[in-house]
Amino acid sequence: MSNPAIPPAVGVLDERAPLTFPSDFLWGAATAAYQIEGAASEGGRTPSIWDTFSHTEGRTVAGHTGDVACDHYHRLGDDVRLMAEMGLKSYRFSVSWPRVQPGGTGPANAEGLDFYQRLVDELLANGIEPWLTLYHWDLPQELEDAGGWPARDTAARFADYAQLVAGALGDRVKYWTTLNEPWCSAFLGYGSGVHAPGRQNGADAVRAGHHLMLGHGLAVQALRAAIPSAQLGVTVNLYPVTPASDAPGDLDAARRIDGLANRFFLDPVLRGAYPEDLVADLATVTDFGHVHDGDLAVISSPLDVVGINYYSRHVVAAPVPGEDPEEYWRAPSTWPGSENVRFVTRGYPVTDMNWEIDAPGLVETLRRVHDEYTDLPLYVTENGSAFVDAVVDGQVDDADRLAYFDAHLRASHEAISAGVPLRGYFAWSLLDNFEWAWGYTKRFGMIYVDYDSQARIPKSSARWYAEVIRRNGLAA
Ligand code: NOJ
Repeated sequence: MSNPAIPPAVGVLDERAPLTFPSDFLWGAATAAYQIEGAASEGGRTPSIWDTFSHTEGRTVAGHTGDVACDHYHRLGDDVRLMAEMGLKSYRFSVSWPRVQPGGTGPANAEGLDFYQRLVDELLANGIEPWLTLYHWDLPQELEDAGGWPARDTAARFADYAQLVAGALGDRVKYWTTLNEPWCSAFLGYGSGVHAPGRQNGADAVRAGHHLMLGHGLAVQALRAAIPSAQLGVTVNLYPVTPASDAPGDLDAARRIDGLANRFFLDPVLRGAYPEDLVADLATVTDFGHVHDGDLAVISSPLDVVGINYYSRHVVAAPVPGEDPEEYWRAPSTWPGSENVRFVTRGYPVTDMNWEIDAPGLVETLRRVHDEYTDLPLYVTENGSAFVDAVVDGQVDDADRLAYFDAHLRASHEAISAGVPLRGYFAWSLLDNFEWAWGYTKRFGMIYVDYDSQARIPKSSARWYAEVIRRNGLAA
């Protein structure tokens, strides 16, 4: 059966009209601490779950770790200079919890905080708005040893950490994101185990998801009290979920995966309740006894902005006996209670992650959040693509990546024209970096990193993006 809901591979991709963005549009690029900083055992930092995981044999491609990464910890000044040359209006980075609060409890580590104070000062001196993410997946190992995110206490520890960072940077940082992509922390970290800490238990994944959101809500309350003028938000990774056909089994598969991937987080955070159908789907996995009275009121504490990371779409179908695609995220318990849903590929062009390129899906995602959930300002806090890059005569011509950005910025503009209050866009990523379980084998950067010499080479996409920012829009 064909499905009219599946958009064609072309569309926004083919529009070539010049487009101008709102005058205060926040043009940015993003990174995360463990993916770029290196200096894993310097300055009083203790191990996070990603240090432990990446140092465990067989967990990352070729045993890659973030020990050195892009050595950003020692190259902060040069990296901010590159951002300034690109004309970035904002830079989204994350704070490494075990760098500023070793072990995840107790007093702050002044040396760790000093690094972020210098980073923020350097950004502000260059007219770049700092956008701070508190948690981009690097839980202090001690807290994992005490139970990790499936344990309720971790939420309280996270709020203490938020307060500690607010005390050090609240006078200079306006935009605060609590969590980055809690779906990945919960379902890849504790469900499929392809991310740290590498546990495989569906019930733990669901509990982790709840406690991440509880930590978010408690942190929002702490930040609100500490910095009344701050703009507070959370970043979720969203996917349009499309049934492969209008057969009832496929429609049900789409409902289920939409529940686990999107509504699991959107509904509690923005509506203060878990979706009833999701709770029913998970009945064989958990009785939700970990949800205490009052939790959902904390989780839905008022926000100022919502961050959305967008990469691709999920197209799903009912299982076909004997057939099972081999995508890594479909390892056991990635989708607790719905393990047998089939993920379908459409034959669209893919990135080096094997993710189908689907710019119309960004319009759909932004419109959905605005139409169904909130009038709050939205930001694309990540969007980007991995492609294989070649250095030729000292240059990297990344035409594929540039085209990906172009298509998704056209999609962003289309969403704005349709009335979505989209206020900014952060390219993922500023630099090539440690792509989690894929190590350094996948390059997402606008700036090429030679990991032997740590030389940085701005790619064609970086030069193009600088021009987009300069003209506040896209040329024809
Ligand atoms: C989302 C994550 O936030 C980021 O850390 C990752 O590198 C990109 N997606 C690409 O997979």
